Amino acid sequence: MCGIVGYIGYRDAYPIIIKGLKRLEYRGYDSAGITLFDDSSTVVKTKGKVSDLEQTAASHDNKGKTLGMGHTRWATHGIPSDLNSHPHLSNSGKIAIVHNGIIENYAALKKMLSDNGFHFISDTDTEVLVNLIEFIKTSQNLKVGKAVQIALTQVVGAYAIAVIDADRPGEVVVAKLGSPLAIGIGKDEYFIASDASPFIEYTKRTIYLDDNEMAVISREQGFKMYSIINDKVITPIIQDIQLSLETIEKGGFDYFMLKEIHEQPHAINDTFRGRLLVDQRRINISGIEHNKEIFKNASRITIIACGTSWHAGLVAEYLFEDAARIPVEVEYASEFRYRNPVINKGDIVIAISQSGETADTLAAIKLAKENGAFVFGICNVVGSSIARAADGGAYTHAGPEIGVASTKAFTTQLTVIIMMGLRLGQLKGTIDNADFDRVAKQLAALPKLIESVLAYDKQIEKIAREYKDASNFLYLGRGYNFPAALEGALKLKEISYIHAEGYPAAEMKHGPIALIDKNMPVVVIATNKGHYEKIVSNVQEIKSRNAKIISIVTKGDESVKLLSDHVIEIPEVTEALVPILASVPLQLLSYHIAIMRGCNVDQPRNLAKSVTVE
Ligand code: G6P
Repeated sequence: MCGIVGYIGYRDAYPIIIKGLKRLEYRGYDSAGITLFDDSSTVVKTKGKVSDLEQTAASHDNKGKTLGMGHTRWATHGIPSDLNSHPHLSNSGKIAIVHNGIIENYAALKKMLSDNGFHFISDTDTEVLVNLIEFIKTSQNLKVGKAVQIALTQVVGAYAIAVIDADRPGEVVVAKLGSPLAIGIGKDEYFIASDASPFIEYTKRTIYLDDNEMAVISREQGFKMYSIINDKVITPIIQDIQLSLETIEKGGFDYFMLKEIHEQPHAINDTFRGRLLVDQRRINISGIEHNKEIFKNASRITIIACGTSWHAGLVAEYLFEDAARIPVEVEYASEFRYRNPVINKGDIVIAISQSGETADTLAAIKLAKENGAFVFGICNVVGSSIARAADGGAYTHAGPEIGVASTKAFTTQLTVIIMMGLRLGQLKGTIDNADFDRVAKQLAALPKLIESVLAYDKQIEKIAREYKDASNFLYLGRGYNFPAALEGALKLKEISYIHAEGYPAAEMKHGPIALIDKNMPVVVIATNKGHYEKIVSNVQEIKSRNAKIISIVTKGDESVKLLSDHVIEIPEVTEALVPILASVPLQLLSYHIAIMRGCNVDQPRNLAKSVTVE
């Protein structure tokens, strides 16, 4: 994780870097730091957020420096502290580095450097890397660019780095393996960042470095790209990015999370625009159409993902098995990659990831590909590593999601999954026209239906007020609503720090029921499709143990309503679509509870949006 920003050009670097770091804070916010360089360099760093850095930096002269780089950190090696913050300097003080990633063999390198007289003041792997660069530079009498290239061939791990050296003023060296790095190309100026958001108001022309690529950016000589492996010159591919400024700003909402919850009708519309052709009874996802035969012949599908995306995978399991009769397994990417999974040539592996950068998912894809699988990616971030590593895929087109807790990314993943389920059903001949039409029509109506659920905001806020001090919550659902319950519980725990568990409603009696008493709020997703009578019985079981019941029911419901303390009604839709609609009130419930508890919902403690470490 971590976010890095750099600038070299003719403007004041300081405000560009600070603003850029704020946009990248979703990547980590344990500490932040900046170095500015012209005739002399300053390094300012501090534990805490970018706003803390700004306060600390206010006493320095930040004006007139046209080269600099900054960092916002998610701690891996070493606790969040001033000392462990980036940038890190080499022993001579000449070379500065910012780094996103992990150097796995740092201990061996540190020992070698210590044996050669180097000392270390932080606990970080990054300080080892910057001194390795210095060691190679000085012992072999090299320019910093060459020293970086040689150093990186000795490193095991993942990195996106930016390096400046006082001996080469007017030059920045950047490199990438595993962690993302974008370079913005302006006129006589260059921007460096973990994603393009820090520089979109200055330039749309972007280069996304690939793994094992590095670049030397110099005021005098411009921009040159090389292979880290063999030092050969690479011709850069410059892309025009589509990102707009308003999509990455709060647009009048107090928090990104709230904005993103409210964006869902629009986002879902963007997801199915041009792909869901109801009248033609057609789903047009090019990643599927180009690989039609592979999907048609699929004998099984393995889905790999982490976090919220894994919950979306569970919905896909229910749907693909139901609509297309293809056996599906859903795996945590982190487990899959280390457990010698049985993947054969021709198997389909679907990777789901909002960021497209999650290290475990990426590594699981590599493993699947090595075993001959066809990998299909469902990603939100265009051009991300997972999107590029996949053999085919479908973007969710949710737009940037900045709140760390995933909201619109989840419901748009589900939208892609519903469309895929319909198309796979057609390809397999397992879905009849009437079912296809019914689901397709309801999917097309979802944006409006979500609007109607968002209108319950005030009612949900009231419920939140009643339960904001609870220490535990239980979320229950059956069938398609089980993943929705898991996601509801995750949302609450990650932003409010209330312990919450999601469970299949019937499984509750094998353990969690022991926790139930009058103080335990239980959120039940009990819509009228699927096993309605069964879940009514489960609600009875909870009621007779005096729990407080908050239920999500279908409009017009009678039975569950009678048993519940609070009821949120959602419009009637087919089972597979319920997780999308049911997620909206659950997101709002978590949001309001977290706000009432004084939590920063956009930046919950210890979490990060893009998890580029395993
Ligand atoms: C982090 C985020 C979650 C996300 C998970 C997987 O934990 O905080 O919101 O679900 O990573 O991320 P991905 O980008 O692969 O969907």
